[in-house]
Amino acid sequence: MQQMILDVDTGVDDALALILAVRQPEWNLRAVTCVAGNTDLAGVVTNTMTVLDALGAQDIPVAAGASRPLLEDARNAAHVHGTDGMADLSLPKSRRRPETAHAVEVLRREIFASPTPVTLVPLAPMTNIALLLRTYPEVAANIERIVFMGGSASVGNATPVAEFNTWHDPEAAHIVISSGVPATMFGLDVFYATTVEERDYRKLATSEDPASRLAGHLLGHLAKVNAGDFRLQGIGAAGLGDAGAVCAVIDPEGLSTRALPVEVSLAAGPARGQTIVDHRTKSSEQRLAHGGARGTTIDVALAVDEHRYRTLFLDALRSPDYG
Ligand code: RIB
Ligand code: CA
Repeated sequence: MQQMILDVDTGVDDALALILAVRQPEWNLRAVTCVAGNTDLAGVVTNTMTVLDALGAQDIPVAAGASRPLLEDARNAAHVHGTDGMADLSLPKSRRRPETAHAVEVLRREIFASPTPVTLVPLAPMTNIALLLRTYPEVAANIERIVFMGGSASVGNATPVAEFNTWHDPEAAHIVISSGVPATMFGLDVFYATTVEERDYRKLATSEDPASRLAGHLLGHLAKVNAGDFRLQGIGAAGLGDAGAVCAVIDPEGLSTRALPVEVSLAAGPARGQTIVDHRTKSSEQRLAHGGARGTTIDVALAVDEHRYRTLFLDALRSPDYG
């Protein structure tokens, strides 16, 4: 079994990612850690446990982490995810209690307890992961790779140039990207690429399986809020969002990446939170003057096999094991 941990701000598309991750027979989702982002921390914890309840995965530890970024105030994305962070579907709230330990302690515990190196999948502002790497840097020895949904090698969404997760906590993004842990940036360049057609999510919404029904309703919400977004192909289609990053973990062959220097813009102003990706291959005045490229070289996702990942997602929901 391969070992995975998700860090989430559930979040409509985080919920899709959780459903996909739990439904992978070759992967063990060791824990899910929560951070403020799409909604406040308490909401993220409740939403995460509600999704795991729908999956019958009440045994997966859930832990609360940072309630705000390292420097900035928390700023939610209710306009995309609804007031409750779960499309305001009025789902019955989970009655579970999260772990009493802080997310950073649970991350440390689960990474060290894993029999093989863990793939860490941040799908949210990276505050918890930055705190982990600064508090317990030795965990890097048992982290296979960090595959994070965040950043953009092109345009932003939270701002014209910055993606929400890196914009929400730029310092945390910088700490993680510059940590030296092998990393893949699953940014906006691929985030919107994999979509589910209206006929498919409508079918899911009538499934016998609670998790498939939930996925169908969440996809319908995403199709509504993102309607008209220039990055979404097809009328009525809904993007997989964070679930695409989980696809990239379980089936990396479907992702095209390039090893490129990435620097997070930390300065106050219009570019704050931007991931500056240096696509240039030749030397430049700047590199000559400063003895090399700025930023840290990580694997940046630039294209994705949409059909492959759409099939991966839908097959996980249609599996005969789940009705
Ligand atoms: O920019 C999109 C990202 O921000 C997604 O992870 C979404 O869930 C929000 O966290
Ligand atoms: Ca998210």
